[in-house]
Amino acid sequence: MNRIIGGIGTSHVPVLGATIDGGRTETDEWKALFDDYVPAQSWLSEVQPDVAIVIYNDHASAFSLDMLPTFAVGVAAEYKPADEGWGPRPIPTLKGDPDLSWGMVESLVESGFDITVCQQLDVDHGLTVPLSILWGQPESWPVKVIPIAVNVIQYPLPSPQRCLALGRAIRNAVSSVQGDSKILMVGTGGMSHQLQGARAGLINTPFDRMFLDKISSDPDSLAAMSVSDYIREAGSEGAELIMWLIMRGALGPNVEKVHSAYHVPASNTAAGMVVLADK
Ligand code: DHB
Ligand code: FE
Repeated sequence: MNRIIGGIGTSHVPVLGATIDGGRTETDEWKALFDDYVPAQSWLSEVQPDVAIVIYNDHASAFSLDMLPTFAVGVAAEYKPADEGWGPRPIPTLKGDPDLSWGMVESLVESGFDITVCQQLDVDHGLTVPLSILWGQPESWPVKVIPIAVNVIQYPLPSPQRCLALGRAIRNAVSSVQGDSKILMVGTGGMSHQLQGARAGLINTPFDRMFLDKISSDPDSLAAMSVSDYIREAGSEGAELIMWLIMRGALGPNVEKVHSAYHVPASNTAAGMVVLADK
């Protein structure tokens, strides 16, 4: 039977990808932050997932404001890194898992999530930076990847409650599909940051720390907040955090916190991570 073994929430700040690609993770500026990802990497080599379902947002790379699905699931056999303006990142193409993707889509639609289906999808830093944070620079990725893109760009955004519910539907979906894969959930984006406007540069450490705590112990309280609450507390781009609720909803009620990390700032962003094992 397919089973979800745990979940990771992590920021997807583009400069982290550029730092890995440029071989600068050991510099004075970056070493402390990247050292704090090692426990997550060690846990992954212990639990050896087969598939990663990565919840991320596209930043106008594959979609544009002309056409922007609220929730979209990739069903392709492979996904290429997107060209975000300076050429695609020098990373391997990602292998998909079409059978699991299509099975999940059927179950999700059955349970009331009328998601968009993508047979072709180039993936941007929202998805590729977390892969590099978790697995470094491999010849090929050690997991198959199923991308789930969420609109956190153009209002209205999906509600945090709906995100948690989607996670719970994903848990049912993966167990409804035949297979024997160990599945890792990854939720990307956040923590507090705002890239534009009068509040550009906003960082709210007490909010971020509260979120890092409650995502394991009390996700329902985080889902009870509105999108406006997230924007007010975490900034317009900090609202990306609602994607961690999809990751968390797909885990069981009881999780073990394996690791968490918090560094301020990385670029304009409070870079956070949490690693949760499903019990
Ligand atoms: C930054 C953070 C993001 O989440 C993003 O998508 C783009 C840029 C930043 O802090 O530079
Ligand atoms: Fe982002």
